[in-house]
Amino acid sequence: MSILYRSDAPRAAAWASYFAEHATDLDFRVWPDAGNLEEVEYLIAWQAPAEFIAALPNLKVLFSSGAGIDHVDFSAIPEHIPIVRMVEPGIIDGMIEYVSLAVLALHRDFFDYVSMQPTGTWDPLEVPPASSRTVGVMGLGVLGKAVLERLATFGFRLRGWNRSPRQIVGVESFAGTDQLQQFLVGCDILICLLPLTEATAGILDRKIFSSLPKGASIINVARGLHLVNEDLLEALNSGHLSRAILDVTDPEPMPPEHPFWRHPRIFVTPHVASMTQPETAAPILLDNLRRHWRGEPLIGLIDRSRGY
Ligand code: NAP
Ligand code: GLV
Repeated sequence: MSILYRSDAPRAAAWASYFAEHATDLDFRVWPDAGNLEEVEYLIAWQAPAEFIAALPNLKVLFSSGAGIDHVDFSAIPEHIPIVRMVEPGIIDGMIEYVSLAVLALHRDFFDYVSMQPTGTWDPLEVPPASSRTVGVMGLGVLGKAVLERLATFGFRLRGWNRSPRQIVGVESFAGTDQLQQFLVGCDILICLLPLTEATAGILDRKIFSSLPKGASIINVARGLHLVNEDLLEALNSGHLSRAILDVTDPEPMPPEHPFWRHPRIFVTPHVASMTQPETAAPILLDNLRRHWRGEPLIGLIDRSRGY
């Protein structure tokens, strides 16, 4: 039984060592030492180009090494091959950390204080309680739900918006396009944790921004293509939006001349909000392999028709 890892090279050794210890019957290979590709039955990859998939005639499952799946061209993967995304505690914890940090930085005006440092300005701003701010999350999946549950511990007022109705304790929930407007009007901080699909591309646009209360901020930790860049600049420059924290951008990497770098009210990180951690992901993947051998449902199985 052969499995090939063709993803993030620095973390390959941790994956290989987990499988060497816990699945001795499995032939774990790390790209480019792939051996005979005809023997490969399972692939762990971020990118899965059509020509590479075509070179794996006995592939049984494609495991994406990340949570998002929008970068995979489903049409290049034969229909009989299940596509599985990464659902593992390391990604969830990383996202909880990043979003909590971003929300608290906005809530406690950290970016205002950063801008006061060069001039040595001592200007204490009002400190409103967390209970006076409403934080809204778009996308109540694995990550959106986990983020909301942690944000609840700070005392923020919480709301969430999702395609299908979801109940999360302590969260006011909205569903579908009919309730989007109702969801937005109350959000002081809006977080995007949607998958990138035809329905969600460009969703963070001027219409959404104008529905948010004046002075609201946004945090995009989903995909750069969710955001209409020009509309964000317009909403910030007109003073309607206060700040934007962007972990994902279009394009990535963002070139040095991109206007977001120098905008005083945009803070960018280079797509690092959360990452698959081999220590927690490898056991999940092994469990998924065993599920496949037993013919059981796979955790993180993609619905090709939905696109996520
Ligand atoms: P998930 O579990 O698949 O959740 C996605 C949620 O979005 C689901 O609840 C789904 O609702 C909802 N949704 C889908 N289409 C929608 C639409 N048109 N309108 C409203 N809601 C919609 O995904 P996840 O694990 O939480 O991950 C979310 C995204 O985070 C990933 O796709 C990836 O792009 C991003 N991500 C970013 C980083 C980073 O480092 N920045 C790291 C990991 C993941 P239904 O269930 O009702 O369909
Ligand atoms: C990262 O963006 C991921 O989708 O895992």
